[in-house]
Amino acid sequence: MAAPKHFLQFRDLARDELEHVFARTRWIKETFKRYEPYRPLVDRTMVMIFEKQSTRTRLSFEAGMQQLGGAAIFMSTRDSQLGRGEPVEDAAKVISRMCDIVMIRTFEQDTVERFARHSRVPVINGLTDEHHPCQILADLYTYIEHRGSIRGRTVAWIGDANNVCYSWLQAAEVLDFRLHVSTPPGYGVVAARAGSGGTAHYALFADPLEAARGAHLVTTDVWTSMGFEAEADARRAAFARWQVDEAMMRAAAPDALFMHCLPAHRGEEVAAAVIDGPQSVVWDEAENRLHAQKALIEYLLLGRVGS
Ligand code: CP
Ligand code: NVA
Repeated sequence: MAAPKHFLQFRDLARDELEHVFARTRWIKETFKRYEPYRPLVDRTMVMIFEKQSTRTRLSFEAGMQQLGGAAIFMSTRDSQLGRGEPVEDAAKVISRMCDIVMIRTFEQDTVERFARHSRVPVINGLTDEHHPCQILADLYTYIEHRGSIRGRTVAWIGDANNVCYSWLQAAEVLDFRLHVSTPPGYGVVAARAGSGGTAHYALFADPLEAARGAHLVTTDVWTSMGFEAEADARRAAFARWQVDEAMMRAAAPDALFMHCLPAHRGEEVAAAVIDGPQSVVWDEAENRLHAQKALIEYLLLGRVGS
């Protein structure tokens, strides 16, 4: 049995694979918008394992599988044996004999990596403490849809060096664009986790306004990610200057876009005038989770369809 292809970190897909997935995202989205059925996954099942909360990820994977003709089963660690200490390796062996593809949202990256090593079917990372690759797949598609290729462009990441940030860092390396990162002291990028190619694809800025200067896309995320709630007060104080506001958007390129993976906190990491303003594409970005992940599932299960 050939080893399945997984999507555990952004760099698990090479540039040519990403270009294929983006082309399929466009076709799948357009076909869906014309109400034309596309159901290549009849009788295929996705198991979705959630150890953290979700709105977009659950909905986009579940609706996406249904639209592709398959089914999706929601499992939470609270009400399955996974929450009672069954070894991840055993769970992977059993679950992957009963379904065709697995999506996992959990805390440690090591958990999805171990699951994948013992899985007979593709495994998708639906967010860990360290990575959120599906989000960046949708974000990049959204950029391409609005502005064309991201190659050579500059993306400004303002705020916490969290899971979403590390997936952006990997994307910059794979797709050859620059990431300007500005974080408060003590919440910065860990170089060893940022990518294999050193700092060629990213630059660190003490001043968030300088990170945003000239950027083609400005993006941010919550100051306190899931699992870090005990630090929320300290983070609110430390991150106060790292709000994406109108001044920051004025410093960016004139046609810069604003993105946020959502859920957002207006008045914290982003000003209402920005997220609800003309440069914001957050609703397209959220919708594109659906289309991009359908293309990802198609690629992992069926290979290079249509090319
Ligand atoms: N952006 C994102 O992953 O949202 P959810 O936490 O709602 O899935
Ligand atoms: N960084 C956030 C993203 C939520 C979609 C978190 O991990 O909570």
